[in-house]
Amino acid sequence: MLANMVTFYNPAKVLLYLKELKEKIPVFMEIDPSYLCNHACLWCRYHHPNGVLPLDYMVALLDKYPQVRGVRITGGGEPLINPATPQFILECSQRGIKTGIETNGGLLRKDSIEIIGNNCQYCRISLDAATIETHRRLHGSKGDFERILDNVRALRETKLAELGISYLVVDENVDEITHLAELNLPVSYIHFKPIIQGVNRQTQKKALKAIKALEQQVSYPLIYGRLVQDHFHRPGLKCRVTALFTRAAADGKEYVCCEHVGEEAFLRENWDGSTERCASCRYAPYNEVLEIYYTNTLSHEFL
Ligand SMILES: C[S@@+](CC[C@H](N)C(=O)[O-])C[C@H]1O[C@@H](n2cnc3c(N)ncnc32)[C@H](O)[C@@H]1O
Ligand code: SF4
Ligand code: SF4
Repeated sequence: MLANMVTFYNPAKVLLYLKELKEKIPVFMEIDPSYLCNHACLWCRYHHPNGVLPLDYMVALLDKYPQVRGVRITGGGEPLINPATPQFILECSQRGIKTGIETNGGLLRKDSIEIIGNNCQYCRISLDAATIETHRRLHGSKGDFERILDNVRALRETKLAELGISYLVVDENVDEITHLAELNLPVSYIHFKPIIQGVNRQTQKKALKAIKALEQQVSYPLIYGRLVQDHFHRPGLKCRVTALFTRAAADGKEYVCCEHVGEEAFLRENWDGSTERCASCRYAPYNEVLEIYYTNTLSHEFL
């Protein structure tokens, strides 16, 4: 109940799980059902060998971590290339586990839309363009932009609570940010993000100006905090949050977090807690909250 009242992305959420943190019990799982992808984005940070998780394996993870309350289905590659992904969503739902899915949207079909719409908390589509040409160029897709837009509209017809768009900002798509208004996207938000390889200052400046202009034209919120200040790991900051989750990758192994998928040293059973090789870290704000909580012991009970 309390967890529902804390907003998405609010790092203070970790304070709801202090008991689990102490006992190192995962309450959250990220899963890559597939390393394969139907797109080939210019920036994709995930270049992994073939790998698709069988349904039995994914379900067994739920048995292994009975305290998991939320599952983020992502990649790796494209989660919907794995035909078992919708069934896995149903399995989570039947167990009362909340799910969210991140997808490029090209493989959504009537049945998967229905299952996602009826059982997921959120669905986030990585669109990254406002025109078919730019989408084709950046996503290396064969022109499924219009179909993706149709899929977004179809998802809106379901009872899905949160339907988001993700837009990675690069030199090639910064000039069409304002054109997103023309698409009349029926979405809950658009999240503008930098690529981990970095966004140059000029592009960042252009993007912020365009986002401000877009804000005047659309009725949904635009999220762009990470364009201004991305999450970097602070040297010396202890990584505590990883006790609360696991990243099940499509190679059938579990890693401590999404930033280190494929690295032997960051397999859950191998990791020694070292953060020397951590640069970008989407979990840095959570670790900062925990650092404050555990080190500033005098003020726990006061505002
Ligand atoms: C790897 S994809 C997996 C799910 C699905 N294929 C998709 O694109 O939504 C998950 C997210 O990672 C993001 N991503 C991929 N490469 C990235 C990079 N180099 N920098 C920042 N984000 C990246 C994508 O934009 C996407 O929103
Ligand atoms: S759609 Fe997702 S997984 Fe596929 S290439 Fe693009 S970012 Fe990578
Ligand atoms: S990137 Fe490093 S600091 Fe961040 S969650 Fe992963 S292991 Fe921890």
